[in-house]
Amino acid sequence: MEFSIKNGNPEKQRNACVIVGVFEHRKLSEAAIEIDRVSDGYLASLLRRGDMDGKLGSTLMVHNVPGSLCERVLLVGCGKERDFTDRAYRQAVMASVKALDGTGAADAASFLAELPVKRRDLGWRVEQMVEVTSDAVYRFAHPSCKKAEERRGLSKLIINVPQRNDLRRVEQALHRGLAIAGGVRMAKDLGNLPGNICTPAYLAEQAAELAKSYNLEIEVLERADMEKLGMGSLLSVARGSRQPPKLIVVQYKKGKASQKPIALVGKGITFDAGGISLKPAGEMDEMKYDMCGAASVLGTLKAVAELDLPINLVVAIPASENLPDGNASKPGDIVTSMSGQTIEVLNTDAEGRLVLCDAMTYVEKYEPETVVDIATLTGACVIALGHHVSGLFGNDDGLVKELTNAGDESFDRAWHMPMWDEYQDQIKSNFADMANIGGRPGGSITAACFLSRFAKKFRWAHLDIAGTAWRSGKDKGATGRPVSLLTHFIMKRAGHH
Ligand code: BES
Ligand code: MN
Ligand code: ZN
Repeated sequence: MEFSIKNGNPEKQRNACVIVGVFEHRKLSEAAIEIDRVSDGYLASLLRRGDMDGKLGSTLMVHNVPGSLCERVLLVGCGKERDFTDRAYRQAVMASVKALDGTGAADAASFLAELPVKRRDLGWRVEQMVEVTSDAVYRFAHPSCKKAEERRGLSKLIINVPQRNDLRRVEQALHRGLAIAGGVRMAKDLGNLPGNICTPAYLAEQAAELAKSYNLEIEVLERADMEKLGMGSLLSVARGSRQPPKLIVVQYKKGKASQKPIALVGKGITFDAGGISLKPAGEMDEMKYDMCGAASVLGTLKAVAELDLPINLVVAIPASENLPDGNASKPGDIVTSMSGQTIEVLNTDAEGRLVLCDAMTYVEKYEPETVVDIATLTGACVIALGHHVSGLFGNDDGLVKELTNAGDESFDRAWHMPMWDEYQDQIKSNFADMANIGGRPGGSITAACFLSRFAKKFRWAHLDIAGTAWRSGKDKGATGRPVSLLTHFIMKRAGHH
């Protein structure tokens, strides 16, 4: 998919398609008015006949509009003009791309970014147009999974902006959108891969490739290294698997040498069967997505590297399978984490926190200023928040605010969840420093409480992406979230405009 910026007149575009907005009820946008003018009121006459009303997300493809130089004009319903919010804008853009799917319109000039959106400037609209479009045209294709099917439809989008705008800022927004879309695509591809291909070793290879292409330092700890470091918690999860675990660490150092890094820790369970606390069979296939935290930190690293942001970053991925086996951990087992704290494993299916805690202790050696972990951690988070927003937890209100804002700015939102001390009591154990589960009430919160015990030495936040990292059902697939949120967070930290 190619994107470019232009300012031009809608009726003078020589493209396969020109995309313009129509508001309810039959109110043409400025670009649509231009085309209507040169066509002697042709568009208005179609609307009067009732072919389109402007309902949000509706579309009408019109061929051979008199007086225009393009082959087609796509009218996109934008809903009520005074309700044209950021969400409506994204829906209209999404609808415009979907309407071109399977058509012969390979290149289009969109005028939707010219429409004023509440609270959002032109830069935002351009960046979002790139991200939403790239999301809409994404198809998973991996050589070992299926032949890349020929996709007919949009492959080149020209984003039109009003004249006399600060083009440099618009180009920057385009660049931002492209970098984020590339990171999102990488995260989706990794997430969608099945567990027999995307193993811990495969994640390590992909991280190494990324490190190579952007000249970054990478280190992969093997089982023996983890044993030496006393990572009994991470290792206890890997016991039931034939695939060796990996702790993958990539360093991005483009900030001042004196500047402490931000560490991103991504849960990398490449398949979560639950271990001896085996999950039920229904939808168990979706547990191939249990490495989406890992995928998102790699995608973010790619976007940050693409933008060449002046900042120091450490990305750490504890990667393992969680399977049942004669050698697997059993409920009641007690393990010692790298921090020295002991854990009673009451449920082997609460494995995410077990691998994350040792990775969090490991990154202490980089003296991070901030640590953010990203994990498909709990089904309880999906019950609490559904699929629209990620759960956000933390031990520092300033950091939580930064991440909430980054979520708002990127439309990849997260909601701050409480973590009061009362909840800590639920993970008390009679036999160890803590248990790895806290019962059903507030399950996403007690999981965060568990992690907080390994986050005493830095500002820390945790994103539970169990509800947002992938979609189920007929649209099953990874979303690439929260690459956009994380990249915005880091851009802001790096002083990006
Ligand atoms: N990877 C799962 C969380 C999950 C479940 C994400 C369903 C998305 C959909 C995690 O490892 C897990 O199994 N969590 C358990 C924790 C419980 C045993 C305390 C859960 O949520 O059921
Ligand atoms: Mn689990
Ligand atoms: Zn899991």
